[in-house]
Amino acid sequence: MSTFPILRLGTVKDVTRFQDHVHALGLTIPCDSEIARGAESPPRRPLARGEIKIGNRIAVQPMEGWDGTADGNPSEHTIERWKKFGRSGGKLIWGGEAVAVSHQGRANPNQLVIGKHTLSGLAGLRKVLIEEHRRTTGSDEGLLIGLQLTHSGRYCRPNRHDEPEPRILYHHPILDRRLGLSGEHAVLTDAEIEAILEEFHGAAKMAQELGFDFVDIKHCHGYLGHEFLSAHTREGKYGGSFENRTRFLREAVQGIRAIAPGIDIGVRFSAFDSVPFRPDPAQSTKGKLGPGIPEEQENLIPYRWGFGVDQSDPRKIDLTETIRFLSLLEELKIRLVNITAGSPYYNPHIQRPALYPPSDGYLPPEDPLIGVAQQLNVTRELKTRFPNLIFVGSAYTYLQDFLPHVAQAAVREGWTDLVGLGRMVLTYPEILWDATEGNAMQHKRVCRTFSDCTTAPRKGLPSGCYPLDSYYKSSRLAERLKAAKAKQ
Ligand SMILES: Cc1cc2nc3c(=O)[nH]c(=O)nc-3n(C[C@H](O)[C@H](O)[C@H](O)COP(=O)(O)O)c2cc1C
Ligand code: SF4
Repeated sequence: MSTFPILRLGTVKDVTRFQDHVHALGLTIPCDSEIARGAESPPRRPLARGEIKIGNRIAVQPMEGWDGTADGNPSEHTIERWKKFGRSGGKLIWGGEAVAVSHQGRANPNQLVIGKHTLSGLAGLRKVLIEEHRRTTGSDEGLLIGLQLTHSGRYCRPNRHDEPEPRILYHHPILDRRLGLSGEHAVLTDAEIEAILEEFHGAAKMAQELGFDFVDIKHCHGYLGHEFLSAHTREGKYGGSFENRTRFLREAVQGIRAIAPGIDIGVRFSAFDSVPFRPDPAQSTKGKLGPGIPEEQENLIPYRWGFGVDQSDPRKIDLTETIRFLSLLEELKIRLVNITAGSPYYNPHIQRPALYPPSDGYLPPEDPLIGVAQQLNVTRELKTRFPNLIFVGSAYTYLQDFLPHVAQAAVREGWTDLVGLGRMVLTYPEILWDATEGNAMQHKRVCRTFSDCTTAPRKGLPSGCYPLDSYYKSSRLAERLKAAKAKQ
């Protein structure tokens, strides 16, 4: 474990103690002591803005699968996950999971792909989700379902789990080294980017034909869309100025509206970032990772490889361009915005705060509640500046049993419009539904952030919650995960 004590939230039995703990850490996290029910509950309030109508404030975050078939179709595991999305009772399904616009753009050989050959498989996912949703809530009224479209860029691994095939926009002094890329590694040409844009346009058209209400043009977590935003050092029309770095987004939107008029567009983006972190070698022993420390960046100032970071000290947040990006979304008449941060590959404690690291990560360098508070507070600041946009907030899972208390306060106080559920959906999708119905909370199903759902796919195993999912518990996969972790 970490070299400093972290209070395990699983041992905190009541909300007052949780509030005291947050206070003791010097954090600002909204948290109600009592949970309201039914129509009285802020997370159960419908939302209507312009043409967009969403039946409640519970959103399901995209949760990528590494369990599709070789040709990019859903498998039984994928179907089970989408049923959970529906079972949550959330009226906004933000993307389901990252679906690659081409085989080459896949983050792993089992990622879903959108193409003619996968249409009926994807239609099936949407169908089971709606069926399960009706079972929980009684109706599919106010249900808005999007599909997250992605190209994995620097993190492409389309053919083999152990064979990265990075498609980069520029050379990054730290991330290139991590991926073993030489200065000769080719960057995507403008013509190749234009071809990828056409894939996005075609994918959105197919999503529309499948009945999805919107597509998310993914701009987060280090994948291609996100890399454009930090392409300060790239030459040509897709790099350098803010205008050039957002050209990909603008051309994606323009093409989608031309080919699929009427489908809505959303953008999930990493609103801030930090330099990459690594386990502290001084505190790592064989088989045991140390806490994360930032990579050395003193010789890289001004830091020109990040978005939403202070170039004079990239460990700090700077929202100047983030705000400009949101103004651009408003200009483009995009209302659906999902705020996330950082990347699971190089600073997971910022992106998905957890008590336990994924096996190739590092121990939390700080109390994970700090990462939660950071995402909540940034979302609040952005929401205050852009009241007309519809915001989904991220990183609520680490709150565990107190997620409903924080979710209620965050919506009630206007910190966000919708509360997004990520990892919790894999273990206890109905957490907010139960809380707001007045059903007994099922504490044993609460995600304790063991990170196996991140580790397993990186070891080439299907995603899922190994500790808590009955399917995985009873299968040989859990043993394979144990063996894979032991080898680390
Ligand atoms: C197994 C796993 C898969 C994920 N897949 C995606 C994805 O496909 N697209 C995406 O934007 N974020 C993805 N995320 C990030 C989550 O949507 C979410 O931002 C993150 O887990 C933090 O939220 P939480 O604290 O509620 O889990 C994934 C996270 C995990 C753990
Ligand atoms: S493996 Fe299960 S308990 Fe662990 S972080 Fe993922 S969803 Fe949560």
